[in-house]
Amino acid sequence: MPEEFIKVCKLSELENKRGKSFSLDGETDIAVFRINDKVYAVENTCPHNHSHVMHEGMVDKNLYVSCPIHGYQFHLETGKVPPDFNIVSSKLDTFKTKIEDGDVFVEKKKKKFKFFDW
Ligand code: FES
Repeated sequence: MPEEFIKVCKLSELENKRGKSFSLDGETDIAVFRINDKVYAVENTCPHNHSHVMHEGMVDKNLYVSCPIHGYQFHLETGKVPPDFNIVSSKLDTFKTKIEDGDVFVEKKKKKFKFFDW
């Protein structure tokens, strides 16, 4: 089955090294980050307490975004916590992105049902 991408915004609407939240297809809350000429998309819901805040997180030089509430970090490409962070094993869901003619597209995934994150 071919991948389906949804346009979320223009690249020029994203501030460098900052996140912005979008509703993908009206049901999936995502956080999109522009880091120079690349764009990353992760789920916007922090797995720690299910707050929709990841778009407000700061990104470090290693591409880890910190949740603004308690500071847990997740990698923008893998969604994983840092290797030395052994408090949680959960991760953020990540989404493929692409930029075409100045527009940012994010992969639409089939909805997964989660019982627990921890
Ligand atoms: S709510 Fe995100 S780290 Fe606690």
